[in-house]
Amino acid sequence: MPGCFAIHLGAGQEEHVKITLSVIKADIGSVGGHIRPSQALLQSVRSWLDEHRDGLLLDCAISSTGDDIALLMTHRHGAGAEAVHHLAWECFREGTRVAKSQGLYGAGQDLLKDAFSGNVRGMGPAVAEMEFEERPGEPFLFFAADKTDPGAYNLPLYLAFADPMNTPGLILSPGLSRGFRFVVMDVSHTEGDRVIELNAPEDLYDLAALLRDGERFVVESIWSRETGEQAVVVSTSRLHNISGKYTGKDDPVMLVRVQKDFPATGEILAPYALGPYVAGSMRGSHQMPLMPVPLQSGISYFDGPPSVTCAAYAMHEGRFTEAVDPFANPFWDTVRNTVAEKAISMRRQGFFGAAMLPMSELEYTGIVEKLKALEPRFQMRPVEKPLAA
Ligand code: 13P
Ligand code: 13P
Ligand code: MG
Ligand code: MG
Repeated sequence: MPGCFAIHLGAGQEEHVKITLSVIKADIGSVGGHIRPSQALLQSVRSWLDEHRDGLLLDCAISSTGDDIALLMTHRHGAGAEAVHHLAWECFREGTRVAKSQGLYGAGQDLLKDAFSGNVRGMGPAVAEMEFEERPGEPFLFFAADKTDPGAYNLPLYLAFADPMNTPGLILSPGLSRGFRFVVMDVSHTEGDRVIELNAPEDLYDLAALLRDGERFVVESIWSRETGEQAVVVSTSRLHNISGKYTGKDDPVMLVRVQKDFPATGEILAPYALGPYVAGSMRGSHQMPLMPVPLQSGISYFDGPPSVTCAAYAMHEGRFTEAVDPFANPFWDTVRNTVAEKAISMRRQGFFGAAMLPMSELEYTGIVEKLKALEPRFQMRPVEKPLAA
């Protein structure tokens, strides 16, 4: 029942001086397969949050990317604040009720647990949060990707924060010249967070050695070595680690603070012109190129292509400006055409070889039973004895 739910800060959860920027995202149902949430669903999420945010949030903005709904929020309760996570969880549960009432596909898809237990991490929704002291001008970018996983950001982040071929600021701007510290997570380790810290530029080759494998190693955060300030946070959840089977792709969100001692917006965006092949698209099981698309875009060809949106904001005392859409600029039309051609090229080879993900990723799908069923039909051919001399 709307209006009857109230979340209060618990003891010891006093307000921080710093601002926390939190994004919590989930797929709770969509129209026409895994394409896009309904307008009614988005509206219900928006009004539920408006009704229940008082005293908790400074601001919030609701958006969709493919079939995922993201709650972008500011507050003063720190990363991982139980009250904020609980608010997001209940908001998605309320949305799921609306999704069910409309017969949306995959209603409640990313709510993998029944009861809230203090933090939505490990429960299905993707989370990216950072706490910082607001700069006089605080521009930041909110990225959301659908039909792919968190490793999709590895290459764009490496290029933007570690490669002067992409980012002239590494040469031209004193604030950037000491480089950046990357925190990389081994997402195949399920018993806890297994992380490594590597410094660019000294550890560049080690960084590349890890980041090439986006299914296993994922950039979790990036920090300025000049100021110690955090520039980036990426959601690192892998749904198959939570549920033990394929329940949808991880569809990662990312927050990037830009300008001054961080790369400029254009330096962060430039790598997306590559349209690199990433894991995802149909049944989350393929290699397809990542397409930068306008805000609120839906999904189409082959449950893809894997799509990424970017919303650019400024904020003051935690209050957002309107979102500006950098990928709506006509420049990206050419990129989208190239990415579409790459996608069609790859699809020509169907299930074969590089078009589909390796077995390590497919082992959460039904192919495991198929291969098991074929086992008894394999026979050892008798070895023919060589003729006696
Ligand atoms: P700053 O204003 O952050 O120095 O960036 C300037 C710029 O040239 C961006 O391309
Ligand atoms: P989502 O993870 O976006 O729901 O996509 C699931 C899927 O299997 C699409 O083919
Ligand atoms: Mg879905
Ligand atoms: Mg999705």
